[in-house]
Amino acid sequence: ELNIEELSIWEDAKQMLLKAKNDGVETAWDRLQQQAPHCKFGESGVCCRICTMGPCRVSKKAPRGVCGADADVIVARNFGRFIAGGAAGHSDHGRDCIEALHAVAHGETKDYTIKDAEKLMRIAKEVGIETEGREPLEVAKDLAADFFENYGTTKGEVSFIVRVPEKRRKIWDKLGITPRGVDREIAEMMHRTHMGCDNDAANTVLHAARTSLADGWAGSMIATEVSDILFGTPTPNKTQVNLGVLKEDHVNILVHGHNPIVSEKIMEAVNDPELIALAKEKGAKGINLAGLCCTGNELMMRHGIPMAGNHLMTELAIVTGAVELIVVDYQCIMPSLVQVGSCYHTKMVTTADKARFTGAEHIKFEIHNGMEQAKKVVRMAIERFPLRDPARVKIPNGPVEVVTGFSNEALLDALGGSLTPLIDAIKAGKIRGAVAIVGCNNPKYKHDYCNLNLAKELIKRDILVIVTGCVTVAAGKAGLLVPDAIDQAGPGLKEICGALGIPPVIHMGSCVDNARILQLCALIADELGVDISDLPVAASSPEWYSEKAAAIGTYAVASGIYTHLGHPPNITGSEVVTNLALSGLDELVGACFLIEPDPFKAAELIDERIKSKRLALGLSA
Ligand code: SF4
Ligand code: FE2
Repeated sequence: ELNIEELSIWEDAKQMLLKAKNDGVETAWDRLQQQAPHCKFGESGVCCRICTMGPCRVSKKAPRGVCGADADVIVARNFGRFIAGGAAGHSDHGRDCIEALHAVAHGETKDYTIKDAEKLMRIAKEVGIETEGREPLEVAKDLAADFFENYGTTKGEVSFIVRVPEKRRKIWDKLGITPRGVDREIAEMMHRTHMGCDNDAANTVLHAARTSLADGWAGSMIATEVSDILFGTPTPNKTQVNLGVLKEDHVNILVHGHNPIVSEKIMEAVNDPELIALAKEKGAKGINLAGLCCTGNELMMRHGIPMAGNHLMTELAIVTGAVELIVVDYQCIMPSLVQVGSCYHTKMVTTADKARFTGAEHIKFEIHNGMEQAKKVVRMAIERFPLRDPARVKIPNGPVEVVTGFSNEALLDALGGSLTPLIDAIKAGKIRGAVAIVGCNNPKYKHDYCNLNLAKELIKRDILVIVTGCVTVAAGKAGLLVPDAIDQAGPGLKEICGALGIPPVIHMGSCVDNARILQLCALIADELGVDISDLPVAASSPEWYSEKAAAIGTYAVASGIYTHLGHPPNITGSEVVTNLALSGLDELVGACFLIEPDPFKAAELIDERIKSKRLALGLSA
């Protein structure tokens, strides 16, 4: 029997967990219980399924697989493929964005346009494309072509290498981990980890670092920059979060997944007067759109669309019984949503051929038909409104206000046009450092307990917190994403954020938008004339679960950012790999991982690291 009190820190989650139980709906927490205890070989990473002489599970009694691979080699190979999976996810999302940019530039679609031509020109110039006296669409053609090349093998290094501080580039070159091309590093990882190739654990881990760097400094960064060009660079705006953003008397549509290419069009369709009239005809007051996970973050950042919840809230959002339709693209979408939806009147719609779900309706979105398809989806949602059973609807009330939209451009604006005020505040010790808390939820840990408490502990210590991904919702629900939250911050942070009118916890977007944070670190390092690893900064993903999150953590470390995780990846079966992760990488790339499930202890350890970095820069601790 699950103890609901222990599963989540949130009232809306607990109310829906109770409702799920009463409605006979199974959730991730139920299935986790069915899966426990987990396989120890798998958990420690020593189960190898790479060939059919195996599968092999190594132990003290049988320390080598049939081919002779030991625990170190097996763990490193499994970890390498794990990182390749994550890098592929973000980067393929980036590729879809480039395809949209390419189609716009070549006049192949009317459904998408360039919303931020100034940024288009700026980015093109940055990667060495001629912009003088040229039309934006002409430049866009070249930019799309350049970005496509980032995926191949001909460039030698990815375009945004120009953003990497000099000292960092030298470190990568020396180690041979400068990312050459997104697809190249991922394919090479698959090759290296084929039976009989890279059988030196440390060497495989270094390529994992290179693969992750191709994600951070190319795949994800391209996804972010192209999304800004196509949909607008975010600026600060206000909206609301938690399940209370659903509306009892409206048609409720949820967007879930990652790529704004689908959700942007759904948002436009929801505002179509004809469709609104149809919704009214069906007895609703209107159409309400809310986001989940990262595509929710994208809409929230750019347009102030409210956010219903994060990863572990996705099933529970449907349990409200008030959702007519959930439309998804890809990544982090539990296949269980189809089953949960079928317990109510909720329809699930998939949009990408690469992410279909048995039992869901497939409405394929392409660059040339996005608007038409979006209208179809919204119409379908409206048609389902009369099927809703009011007796089974329960929407937890009381959404919480948030301020969002802090792209680097917006942050610079808030700072008055330059980084100087931020750097001065860091030098003066008013802001002692900055920590990005990012990533997911994981039902193995009390939902958002670690995400939230770490954020609270850090701002108390005058450490600025930046959030993306699912941590955004945790911080938002607790009221940390509004300027008033400075009352929970230490005196220095309170003073600076108060003067600037910004929250002490800054929302910077979705998971691919962690690239914004990389860029910000690089800008600060350049301004100070140091390497990223010299900065009093850290990253954390307390409740991570996915391959993508592991790729993010790895590119953060490989970029010189000390990174906390609430629990380790499946590597503990190898001493070599574990030691590299927890300390060895510090000597190689100037940063390593910290594993600590307790947010209070983690805050203490991150603070220690920030102190040491400050002292090394000649600043007060
Ligand atoms: Fe076993 Fe080696 Fe094959 Fe892995 S690659 S399954 S360890 S024989
Ligand atoms: Fe995400």
